[in-house]
Amino acid sequence: MSESLAIHGGTPAVAEGVVDTRWPVIDGSDREAVVRALDWPSHTANSPEVKQLVEEWCAWQGAKHCLATNSGTAALHMAVAAVGIEPGDEVITSAFSWTSTATCVLHHNAIPVFIDVDPVTISLDPKLIDAAVSDRTKAVIVPHLHGLSADMQPVIEACERHGLRLIEDCCQSHGAKYRGAKVGSMGDVATFSLNQNKNLSAGEGGLLTTDDDEVYEKAARLWQFGEIRKPDGTRDMNAHGMGWMYRTSGLSAAFARAQLAKLDRYTEIFQENARYLSSALAEIPGVEPPAEPEGYEHVYYNYAVRFQPEQLGLDVDARSFREKVSAALNAEGVQVAQWWNIALPDMVLFQNKDGYGKGCPWACPHTRPEISYENLDLPETRRWLAEYALVRHLHAPNDLSVMKAYVGAFEKVFASLDSVLG
Ligand SMILES: Cc1ncc(COP(=O)(O)O)c(C=O)c1O
Repeated sequence: MSESLAIHGGTPAVAEGVVDTRWPVIDGSDREAVVRALDWPSHTANSPEVKQLVEEWCAWQGAKHCLATNSGTAALHMAVAAVGIEPGDEVITSAFSWTSTATCVLHHNAIPVFIDVDPVTISLDPKLIDAAVSDRTKAVIVPHLHGLSADMQPVIEACERHGLRLIEDCCQSHGAKYRGAKVGSMGDVATFSLNQNKNLSAGEGGLLTTDDDEVYEKAARLWQFGEIRKPDGTRDMNAHGMGWMYRTSGLSAAFARAQLAKLDRYTEIFQENARYLSSALAEIPGVEPPAEPEGYEHVYYNYAVRFQPEQLGLDVDARSFREKVSAALNAEGVQVAQWWNIALPDMVLFQNKDGYGKGCPWACPHTRPEISYENLDLPETRRWLAEYALVRHLHAPNDLSVMKAYVGAFEKVFASLDSVLG
């Protein structure tokens, strides 16, 4: 009944204290790891913790090489440079992702070209790659978003057709699978974030993986001041090109190792909670739970629902429907929010076409002048932006008892929609 809704003063469906909002879960093994790292003589990237993290991630991911970085963004920039992107080159990517998926291209004086999303995976729509290719296109950056792989087979085929390098942005999708293959194993190079929110978290940090020796060597130069890194980890102390300082520390690596030991168990909890929630929410008209298509394994970094008023025969603006339903759910104790509410090409950076002054890199001499981000045709991205919301805290230690309370909150809000919509 409308009077019992928490936004109108009723008792919330999810009682206070039921949901544990802290992530990552910290236990004795994390504390022990960080203290252990303090006892090594080096706390830099020379710490044995960093070497161990790299070996353990290679084994877990099934990769030949890995570099541990101080962010996923650093790993993305290294990946762009490592596949040979040069000034004025174009890189095709998705109109919806984290900013770094696109800005890593600008970091190397190259130009992102955006295409619309696929409505199921919310990564780039592979059917649109061909039309976006120009004589400057050198690569595709495919983000695997929310914990779900992009539709990789047609992406790989398009890259082969046009001779493009393929960078997988796996920052949100550690361990997600496509036709049995882990994301990050299907392109030339892959990047992962270890930022606090991620399924594998070390506070901040990142990982780059590749099976390609040349890509690894180029990435390693960017990682550390443009220097060549010898196989035994020693340095030649000479800059061979542009390099940055993208190394991580022993403390972060030790923290990441302790979390990695628990990642598979944590992923199972995300999946168990998400699949339970999806089966219940699928019964509520107006709510579309996230897809986990046949042949995909979702790891549910984000649990993204779509609110669809037209399923209820309501002729209301999707954004305003989402805002009102979200406010009611938040009051009921289910945290619901968006991460980005804007398409990447609509951001001021792209609309102004000025990355670091004087209009560069768009005004730089190697760039194709006709690149424009005005009024791009992105119907699926815009529909997604109007409809989606992330339901928070499906992580451990929250379990099915919390999910049952979430379902109760959704049922309550959708049973009183007249009152919610006012
Ligand atoms: C898809 C995607 N790419 C890249 C990044 C950048 O990772 P970081 O925050 O570690 O730099 C993120 C981080 O949230 C992300 O979600």
